[in-house]
Amino acid sequence: MSESLIHDVQVRVRPGSALQGACRVPGDKSISHRALILGALADGTSRVRGSLSAGDTRATLRVMRALGVEIETPDQTTLIVHGRGLRGLEPPAAPLDCGHAGTAIRLLAGVLAGQRFNSVLDGSAQLRRRPMRRVVEPLRQMGAQITDTRGCAPLRVVGSPLHGIAYRMPVASAQVKSSILLAGLLASGPTAVIEPGPARDHTERMLRAMGADVETADGCCVTLIPPGRLQPLDLSVPGDLSSAAFVLVAALLAGAGEVTIAGVGVNPTRTGILDILGAMGAGIAQNNPRAESGEPVADLVARPSALHGTAIAGDWVVRAIDEFPALMIAATQAEGVTEVRGAEELRVKETDRIAVMAAELRKLGASIEEWPDGFRISGPQRLRGATVDGHDDHRVAMALVLAGLVADGPTTVTNARCIEDSFPGFVETLQTLGANVEQIIADERGERTA
Ligand code: S3P
Repeated sequence: MSESLIHDVQVRVRPGSALQGACRVPGDKSISHRALILGALADGTSRVRGSLSAGDTRATLRVMRALGVEIETPDQTTLIVHGRGLRGLEPPAAPLDCGHAGTAIRLLAGVLAGQRFNSVLDGSAQLRRRPMRRVVEPLRQMGAQITDTRGCAPLRVVGSPLHGIAYRMPVASAQVKSSILLAGLLASGPTAVIEPGPARDHTERMLRAMGADVETADGCCVTLIPPGRLQPLDLSVPGDLSSAAFVLVAALLAGAGEVTIAGVGVNPTRTGILDILGAMGAGIAQNNPRAESGEPVADLVARPSALHGTAIAGDWVVRAIDEFPALMIAATQAEGVTEVRGAEELRVKETDRIAVMAAELRKLGASIEEWPDGFRISGPQRLRGATVDGHDDHRVAMALVLAGLVADGPTTVTNARCIEDSFPGFVETLQTLGANVEQIIADERGERTA
């Protein structure tokens, strides 16, 4: 049966689960994108273990191949990237399709701006709705010739000589910071980025591991001296904390005992979710802390916890930016008020995650107050099972599955194929832990369990 005949993937959840046990989560999406892109720019062959093979990273892999990079995948999670050096990419024959992946298009805009050839970066209808001026503007200041389409993709890049700049970012975005640093690899003179908040620093760590001179001063000013070359990577990718967050919230809300997730990345620019859940009363331990390939890693152990609401703003927002859909479900079950401010970036993710989550939670009987930059949820609230829409946004769809675990009666999440963009095996992982959840594929032959 060809994949194109699939009409929808739905997840059906029944309440009454009692989760416990041990699992792993797939490799970190941000690090996997960067390993593909930076590995391609290295002098020599990079070896990457534990990489994420999912919709978003497969898009980056296809784009790098279209730029002439040979990439072997001896198994699902291993990448052997035959780097072509900083100036070795080849002109692509067609527009480069980044799928749903915002990280791919924004980072690649930086890589392609300084090449000696032209290219077009594009993506899905969903990606075409997301703002790109935030990278186009600083890249132009570096001498890039890039045209966007009313501020969005497609991006047309005329490869041009670049010069370093000092850029004060208006939003704390790791994608913008990384795009500028990647352009800086080919620029004349140093490039500096000043961040308004602690956006994830995987690009800086990886560049350092490849021998580049990257310094971070006062935790917010990153300077790159253009390296003549990058050494290849030998990298183990940790489990993705942004995926683990969904399992953690499930364990806190619907746990019967401990749930252990081994080998999860706990880079401090990503651990806002652990700080926030901790402030809400969650029992989550970080066991066996260690460093792997320049990134902090730990085994996370969550036990069922009575949560209470909290106020979330400032650095917590930046350091937990992808976890708010999961956090909203936790907030509905927490005693008291959870209030989030300064999170307007949630409105320009794969979907407007404030509006979409509020609309779907209301279908489950929840009440939530929306603001332009956040929301307020008073709990605990009784959720009633219903059919809800995942909106083709992986983190929305997974969050609604969590809602189903604590709702009365069955819940169906439609438009949930997107879960595969970041967490292939999400439903199976919950099943292994004891959740009453199944994936339904609706195609020409009707509906069947996956
Ligand atoms: C990412 C950065 C974040 C995050 C996204 C991945 C990255 O986006 O939301 O899922 O890999 O650099 P912003 O840079 O837009 O905040």
